[in-house]
Amino acid sequence: MTISDERLTSSRPDYRDSGLVFDDGFLIGSATAAYQIEGAVTAGGRGPSIWDTFSATPGAITNGDTGAVADDHYNRLDADLDLMVSLGLEAYRFSVSWPRIQPSGVGPANPEGVAFYSRLVDGLLARGIRPIVTLYHWDLPQALEDAGGWTSRETATRFADYARLVARALGDRVEVWTTLNEPWCSAFLGYGSGAHAPGRTDAEASLRAMHHLNLAHGLAVQVLREELPAHAEVSVTLNFHVLRGEDASSPEARRRIDALANRAFTGPMLHGEYPADLRADTAAITDWSFVLPGDERIIHQPLDFLGVNYYSTATVRMWDGASPRQHADGHKAAGGTPWPGSEHVEFLVQDGPYTSMGWNIAPDGLEDLLVSLGAEFPGLPLMVTENGAAFDDEIDADGRVRDVGRLDYLRRHFTAAHRAIERGVDLRGYLVWSLLDNFEWGYGYSKRFGIVHVDYDTQVRTVKDSGRWLGALIDRHRIPE
Ligand code: FCB
Repeated sequence: MTISDERLTSSRPDYRDSGLVFDDGFLIGSATAAYQIEGAVTAGGRGPSIWDTFSATPGAITNGDTGAVADDHYNRLDADLDLMVSLGLEAYRFSVSWPRIQPSGVGPANPEGVAFYSRLVDGLLARGIRPIVTLYHWDLPQALEDAGGWTSRETATRFADYARLVARALGDRVEVWTTLNEPWCSAFLGYGSGAHAPGRTDAEASLRAMHHLNLAHGLAVQVLREELPAHAEVSVTLNFHVLRGEDASSPEARRRIDALANRAFTGPMLHGEYPADLRADTAAITDWSFVLPGDERIIHQPLDFLGVNYYSTATVRMWDGASPRQHADGHKAAGGTPWPGSEHVEFLVQDGPYTSMGWNIAPDGLEDLLVSLGAEFPGLPLMVTENGAAFDDEIDADGRVRDVGRLDYLRRHFTAAHRAIERGVDLRGYLVWSLLDNFEWGYGYSKRFGIVHVDYDTQVRTVKDSGRWLGALIDRHRIPE
């Protein structure tokens, strides 16, 4: 079974339940990423990353925003840790900035970079919050990009070296590890469409990058197993595209996008080989000679759980070549395509309601996704490593942020997760994206995903109603009224 199979939606469509209880062991928390919150991009010996370069490129980011200051989290670590306590978070997923650890992507660990993450981990543990480390959330050291970035096989080896440094620095205290966040975005938005750093628009390069990211994952898992204690848990986080579409051509369109977006990663990582149809669909672009003998074996490493990021669905069919083409794939349009070899798949505008990203709100997609992954990978626990929503929040005169849209979104998606658990899925936890409003990549600060509002002029944090609601959920492990 794959995610593109026929609809699996349960017969209770509303998803606005309350009172549902999660087991004590179910981990509930929130997530962030280094470049989106830290700021302080030249502090502590940090080197430049591809996102510093890209965000300085005119026209690349809405309003010309950059992550130079972001939430200034680097300088406000203790206060932000206390904020997490006030919400009652059980777990906090953060990413380590590679150029803080290795400013030019090679060589020994930068002690100041290590010290920052060490302080973060200690601060979490002292407060009873479980750290979940992501090694790569898109901020490649610029020096490595200058040497070819993810189109170069060497970058995968560099990543394994970096993973070893972080494991040696934090492995005595961090038990839960993720290699890559959403390698689909790194490869196909970064090197294909050009909407993300490094902003390249080269179909062949995007497929090459995809493979080297997969290889980096496999090599890093091997290194983590060598360096970490046996009880450490190792995972990867993927952004699955949940595909809909009922037209005659939709099965073919779903198959193509499922191959590029989902099976390009689950294939080698979890089944040990690239899908034959993916190779065939892209044969005119590349001969796949970047896959060397033995690579798929390296990529195919046992994992302790699979990280699942989910926001919305996509509805597809083959473009008939005549009617005006729809492009509603949820990704910012840029100069190239993120769908090499399948550019003729049409992404249809879907039924609302929508978040301010224009993404449709579809909790049934999360339930279907978890159930289908559970069926495809029996024995592999799942964790929702990101789910959340952007809305145009405002602070009311009384100082409160009444983000009813986000609260409703979270209620529906926690309900969907609960229904998946009831249907037998081994779901271990749920991390809301995001703790803080932050730098939303190509959209800069124009999109707010936080359960905590950030005033970017003053850096004042205000817990939104959705944050209080999440705190209440965690408190009783029960979806509140
Ligand atoms: C995911 C990213 C995360 C954030 C959310 C909205 O694709 O992993 O950093 O941007 O989308």
